[in-house]
Amino acid sequence: MKYAITGSTGKFGLAAVNTLLENVAASDVVALARNEEKAKKLLPAGVEIRPGSYEDVDQLASSLKDVDRLLFVSSQPGGKIPRLQQHQNVITAAQKANVKFIAYTSFPQADQSNAPLAQDHKETEKIITATGIKHAFLRNNWYVENEMSVIDAGNQDEAFVYSAADGYAGWALERFYAEAAAKVLISDDPKDIYEFAGASHTYAELAEAVKEATGNNFEVRSLSDAEYSQGLQDSGLDKATADMITSFQTLIRDGNLDENTSDLPDVLGHALPSLTDSVKEVLAKKAK
Ligand SMILES: NC(=O)c1ccc[n+]([C@@H]2O[C@H](COP(=O)([O-])OP(=O)(O)OC[C@H]3O[C@@H](n4cnc5c(N)ncnc54)[C@H](OP(=O)(O)O)[C@@H]3O)[C@@H](O)[C@H]2O)c1
Repeated sequence: MKYAITGSTGKFGLAAVNTLLENVAASDVVALARNEEKAKKLLPAGVEIRPGSYEDVDQLASSLKDVDRLLFVSSQPGGKIPRLQQHQNVITAAQKANVKFIAYTSFPQADQSNAPLAQDHKETEKIITATGIKHAFLRNNWYVENEMSVIDAGNQDEAFVYSAADGYAGWALERFYAEAAAKVLISDDPKDIYEFAGASHTYAELAEAVKEATGNNFEVRSLSDAEYSQGLQDSGLDKATADMITSFQTLIRDGNLDENTSDLPDVLGHALPSLTDSVKEVLAKKAK
């Protein structure tokens, strides 16, 4: 059985490759990368590296030759061609190469979500379903790492600000989503849909976790979206970027990341660390 992973030079892809290597032979793992030189420096020895630009269907199809199972790590908005087109390219290539199974990193409750950030994922899930290829949608909730700016602020005893009110998010460390993705990829009997998330928490609870983790007693401010965006602009961001970052607060306030699911610990086979321990881990990693 040959397994391939897209975006293998990214944090998610690399962590997934490392989990795969704990479970299957390195000769069965193919790492796809748009930058093969970067991949050679980052990836463990023995893993075959093949070109994998989301912008080149023919290259992807040729790289996926003899691959049975594909972990398709979603791309990011803002590339040279629209993200959905990049995703279509990966799926078309997988079809051409006769890939038997696609595990795709998606968005919480993607099929029902109206969040702007979910739309590419919703469409990608539809395209994958229409191919008839067996699949698993790995609907990943929020990474703890997304909150690095407020975690850092608290760590420096500065104000912790948010505008998501009492909205809930299912934060978990990125490495756990990646580990779970690799486990689904090699599973004998994967489900079609996984809602991967940590326990649901509000920003006020995240602030408490940062206080516990750091021993600091900083100010916590719940703002309106306009105030939150203005604060980002005052710190030097342009309005469009500030509004884009603020939209993540809006989607959390609107309940898009509020889930009650045990899929992540179930697939990992162990409980997740507390939010406080997760905060300690990201701070320790940053300090290195
Ligand atoms: N649920 C969440 O909270 C959350 C948060 C952040 C991101 N995400 C999603 O998770 C994905 C992985 O996150 P990450 O932390 O691994 O991001 P990352 O460290 O920035 O890595 C992104 C990966 O995608 C690759 N990539 C980007 N554009 C590409 C293209 N056109 N063709 C081929 N490869 C391309 C990058 O290649 P290079 O190394 O060459 O740049 C890199 O390998 C993101 O892409 C995003 O869809 C989810």
